[in-house]
Amino acid sequence: MGKIVKGRILVTGGLGYIGSHTCVELIRSGYEVSIIDNLVNSERFILDRIEKITGEKIDFYEIDITDLTQTMICFNDKKFDLVIHFAALKSVNESIKFPDRYFKNNVGSVENILKCIKSEDVKGFVFSSSCTVYGQPDILPVTESSPFKKAESPYAETKQICEKIIKEFAIINKKPSISLRYFNPVGAHDSGLIGELPRGVPDNLVPFITQTAIGKREKLKVFGDDYSTKDGTPVRDYIHVVDLAEAHVSAVDRLMNEETNESYEFFNIGTGKGYSVLEVIKSFERVNKVQLPYDIVGRRQGDIESIYSDNKFSKQTLNWRASRDLDQMMKSAWIWEKKLKESGS
Ligand code: NAD
Ligand code: UD1
Repeated sequence: MGKIVKGRILVTGGLGYIGSHTCVELIRSGYEVSIIDNLVNSERFILDRIEKITGEKIDFYEIDITDLTQTMICFNDKKFDLVIHFAALKSVNESIKFPDRYFKNNVGSVENILKCIKSEDVKGFVFSSSCTVYGQPDILPVTESSPFKKAESPYAETKQICEKIIKEFAIINKKPSISLRYFNPVGAHDSGLIGELPRGVPDNLVPFITQTAIGKREKLKVFGDDYSTKDGTPVRDYIHVVDLAEAHVSAVDRLMNEETNESYEFFNIGTGKGYSVLEVIKSFERVNKVQLPYDIVGRRQGDIESIYSDNKFSKQTLNWRASRDLDQMMKSAWIWEKKLKESGS
């Protein structure tokens, strides 16, 4: 007997860090996957790696979603049951230097993809949002009812704008849509075949740690130890990228099974636990038996002191939980970095 296919999902940005892990989990759960990616921040070899992990052939469209005509061609070519939209630019620093590029790409691609799904028989839409929509929250942990505070960067503003556009679209067009507000995704797939591939010098903590440990960077800079936190360094809710990928499968199942209560729903996707920068470093050193050279330096502009999620609503409603701990995040991130070096990528 042939296998039962749950549906075909279009994954935009599917060759990126979170998208690639989500494609793997969607296929494992019984979905077929098509990917759109313009390779602005990813590599084609990731497609081969996803196929290697899953044993499935995946159709891939090298398209820039800000090009509406090209994007529509893809929708004419195949019927998609649902769309997950990861495609976006994500560097906070770059967005401060080139805000127009961020508004055009991130907001423009959402507008185009919504135009495509409006006229098609697509059951729903899942959007990659971020805890950055909350700005510096007044109360921790952050629940979904916490307000959007002032955006700390143009990148953050694009996420706030996109969520508003999607909410309106979902209500007016009766297309159930879900925004997932990720906290800090880190780690990599157990196979070590896919993981985060930063271009140039990483801005984010974990890729900087692994690149320092492998010798690509001389020393990690810890940005500030004078915050009002347990050890003075900032606190974040780090979540394993495979747990995050599984949250997408839960959101897709919810939309496919028509279980949503409202046209537009939004969820915090984090572990609910906050770890300081020094705790992350200690975990990395301990589980991987590697000593990490680092200096404490001044604060990084725009950094907030602490943020971590209240994830009760997502656990209950999406029937999902984050099961991988910080040590597993650090172990998998290191395996990925070492394999990347071995493969010469
Ligand atoms: P990523 O850069 O690894 O993946 C994004 C992918 O989208 C890339 O493969 C890129 O080539 C593609 N892309 C970008 N613009 C495109 C366009 N116009 N047309 C077609 N493809 C395009 O980033 P990621 O870490 O996997 O993030 C995925 C999503 O999650 C993004 O929307 C990001 O803003 C959001 N997010 C990420 C984090 C994080 O820490 N990584 C946290 C919160 C939210
Ligand atoms: C940042 C973005 C957030 C985005 C996320 C993923 C800001 C304010 N927020 O989150 O919007 O969704 O990246 O792209 O930029 N750190 C060091 N040394 C380093 C790097 C980081 O000490 O070399 C510290 C930072 O001060 C921070 C923590 O590590 O306290 C995590 O930093 P990072 O990985 O960049 O994520 P965020 O700043 O939380």
